Amino acid sequence: MSKNPFDISGKVALVTGASRGLGLGFAKSLAKAGVNLAITSRSLESLEAPAKELEALGVKVHKVVLDVRDQQSIKDAVASVIEKFGCIDILMNNAGCNVRKPALEVEWDDWNLILETNLRGVFFVAQEVARHMSTKKYGRIINIGSVTCVAGYAGLGPYGASRGGTKQLTMSLAHDWGEYGITVNCLAPGWFKTDQNKVMYEQEGWVDYLCERIPLGRPGSPGDLEGALLLLASDASAYITGQTLLVDGGISVGAVRATVAK
Ligand SMILES: NC(=O)c1ccc[n+]([C@@H]2O[C@H](COP(=O)([O-])OP(=O)(O)OC[C@H]3O[C@@H](n4cnc5c(N)ncnc54)[C@H](OP(=O)(O)O)[C@@H]3O)[C@@H](O)[C@H]2O)c1
Repeated sequence: MSKNPFDISGKVALVTGASRGLGLGFAKSLAKAGVNLAITSRSLESLEAPAKELEALGVKVHKVVLDVRDQQSIKDAVASVIEKFGCIDILMNNAGCNVRKPALEVEWDDWNLILETNLRGVFFVAQEVARHMSTKKYGRIINIGSVTCVAGYAGLGPYGASRGGTKQLTMSLAHDWGEYGITVNCLAPGWFKTDQNKVMYEQEGWVDYLCERIPLGRPGSPGDLEGALLLLASDASAYITGQTLLVDGGISVGAVRATVAK
């Protein structure tokens, strides 16, 4: 019988920014698939509860401190995972941040925070991990994107620039590292309720406004990302690289109804 191409049990994954939100969701999906995990946060304490939850799913969990704005921290974190597990098969390059402000109010430091975290951080984490993957001639790198990879949103200028940059970076890295058996793709979620955007969800009427513009009629919930994650993390995507996969309920296809309302 041929092997299930989605089977990733026994592999090792590094999930950055797994203390909460989508990162913790990605870690749970990988743990359910039997993947041993290195999970990161800027504080070890924030990883205590997530690690317990993940270990209860029967996999090994290694807690690692990582600040993606600090190059030495990236090197130390990746070295620690290699020391613990000997390899990294899958990188879920998820850590990220946002600052929501009208473009006229964005400050120099807002720009630096977002771009350093979401774009420079994604690149240097991928580079450090790819150094090891390239020696094994195998790797699955999944960079976090967003619907802002392909669409413009007021109040999200620097964030959108960081995600558009990630989409482009993903294409270039796919080309750079294909010869090493490493695929590089971008998983781009739509709107999911997490700490990062709960301020929007708490605004009266905003969820209705949003749902009106999503073809599938609802915001995302963490389980909605699992299928795309397992595809991009496994051999089922062996011939897919450089791609950005939108998991957004369809909001990126265009949000304006062009027929007359009934
Ligand atoms: N929620 C959405 O609708 C949505 C949609 C598209 C894309 N995304 C992206 O998906 C990712 C996860 O988002 P989320 O909504 O789950 O956000 P979140 O709840 O705010 O979680 C962000 C994660 O990133 C980590 N992080 C932030 N800055 C970091 C840094 N400098 N170094 C290392 N880790 C850092 C945080 O870790 P600690 O604070 O514990 O250090 C935390 O684990 C982000 O990249 C986000 O931009 C989210």
